[in-house]
Amino acid sequence: MSLRSSAWYAGQDRNAYIHRAWMRRGTPDDAFTGRPQIAIANTASDLTPCNSHLNEVAESVRQGVWAAGGVPLNLPVVSLGETNMRPTAMLWRNMAAMATEEMLRANPIDGVVLLGGCDKTIPSLLMAAASVDLPAVVVPGGPMLNGTFRGVPLGCGTDVWRLSEEVRAGTLPAAAFLESESSMIRSRGHCNTMGTASTMGLLAEALGMTLPGTAGLPAADSRLLARAHETGRLAVELVGAGRRPSEVLTAGSFRNAIVALAAIGGSTNAVVHLLAIAGRLGVPLTLDDFDRIGADVPLLVNLQPAGQFLMEDLHRAGGLAAVLDQVADLLDPDAVTVTGRPLVEHLAGAAIWDPDVIYTRDAPLQKQAGIAVLRGNLAPDGAIIKPAAASEHLLVHRGRAVVFDSVEELHARIDDPALDVDADSVLVLRGCGPRGYPGMPEVANLPLPEKLLRAGVRDMVRVCDGRMSGTAYGTVVLHVAPEAAVGGPLAKVRTGDWITLDVTRRRLDVDVPDAELAARAPSPGLTAALARPYRGWEQLYVSTVTGADTGADLDFLVGASGHDGVRESY
Ligand code: FES
Ligand code: MG
Repeated sequence: MSLRSSAWYAGQDRNAYIHRAWMRRGTPDDAFTGRPQIAIANTASDLTPCNSHLNEVAESVRQGVWAAGGVPLNLPVVSLGETNMRPTAMLWRNMAAMATEEMLRANPIDGVVLLGGCDKTIPSLLMAAASVDLPAVVVPGGPMLNGTFRGVPLGCGTDVWRLSEEVRAGTLPAAAFLESESSMIRSRGHCNTMGTASTMGLLAEALGMTLPGTAGLPAADSRLLARAHETGRLAVELVGAGRRPSEVLTAGSFRNAIVALAAIGGSTNAVVHLLAIAGRLGVPLTLDDFDRIGADVPLLVNLQPAGQFLMEDLHRAGGLAAVLDQVADLLDPDAVTVTGRPLVEHLAGAAIWDPDVIYTRDAPLQKQAGIAVLRGNLAPDGAIIKPAAASEHLLVHRGRAVVFDSVEELHARIDDPALDVDADSVLVLRGCGPRGYPGMPEVANLPLPEKLLRAGVRDMVRVCDGRMSGTAYGTVVLHVAPEAAVGGPLAKVRTGDWITLDVTRRRLDVDVPDAELAARAPSPGLTAALARPYRGWEQLYVSTVTGADTGADLDFLVGASGHDGVRESY
């Protein structure tokens, strides 16, 4: 086996001496002669609490790598914690991906195990692995155990949104809301709802990038460590077999991920992440593929926010394999996984152990659950909505716009009793796309006006060029493209305009003639709110980020650079 790392370590010359000598920290001589060097790209960080247990997972991977004859190398990489980072962890997804890609390429690495969990970490790791195209395999850090509050399950994120709205509606005392805080996070691991972290862990497996049966194992489950050990061994085998991400991440595997996304009722954020990963490989995936492939896939998983249960329940009920087995005929039969065998082969023997959590194909929770892609004069490049998390009665709706130019304006005005708004109004928030509010924060599920909440209203149509948390719900049209900050028509809407949402016809239109819309002067409030960074990462990001409809990657990071041709240092 010829190893990439031997370009550093093999031979008797001065440079090989230097590369080996500094790596000798008790390692045996044969560590440098023909043994695969396996990086463990580790996003453990105390500031990413969902990933803080990954050092222990890494230790199990290390043991597995040694056991299979490889050399494990801990590689701490940029970690992005969803709950702390302002304005949004998404602002640095591409930076994390770029940094990890560069570290893998620059170092004597033959293969890599990717340890992620919290929302942006698995996407950034997969983007990096795709661009450097070294043998790679993911260990998703896994969800937290179920929390409960006053006898009922408490879902991460989803119940924060729900309970805080109940406080505003006057149906829950503020003290009870605060009391629930210490019950929300019961163990190590990431959010236990079907938010972005759970979704991307499961999709990493649907894409073929994990050891089958690993995604969805709770972070506190000792079987996760056993799978991590096995994954360490597998990484060494991957190097021997020369199996690279470009072999696994094919059009067929993205098809499988889109089918899985619909069946699990996964996060809308998966759309920008899958588009970005595909972009790194030149796989021709488009926004419309999500609708084309996913629209008729039924919702089978009864998890918050679309349903009731939490990730621990999904695992107990049979996990991803049981879900995918129900829709196996929709999967690409040839898409291989890191095992070298097709995904569909790994579904043999899958069973549903709790039909309240995983529904069957014949009697699904919802018949058509995929992401719907909308177009119209308000979203010429597309917008998305997740029907599974929306209200049936609002999927075809016409209402008058109430427009907000910034999150600050929204917060200042939404609860004003004088705000001219009713349950049929369409709430519009703009300037929140990748460029406008750099990173495209999760603000699209705008809070409802307090006076309507108190009157019993629990959902309204909302339209935004930003994202929403994967744990959120509501009739929310998001990722509107082009975004307002680059002159998309959303920038021209005015309060009082009639907006029509028709999910059955896949339309989003404003009832204003195109010429009139185009001729309108820009809103001063919007212009004032848009970002104008002058230096650093933010400046680079804003000047090069692409639209949400193509994955919001930086334009110069689209595509791959591979891992060859690195020149010597001395
Ligand atoms: Fe980390 Fe939800 S905050 S996964
Ligand atoms: Mg999230």
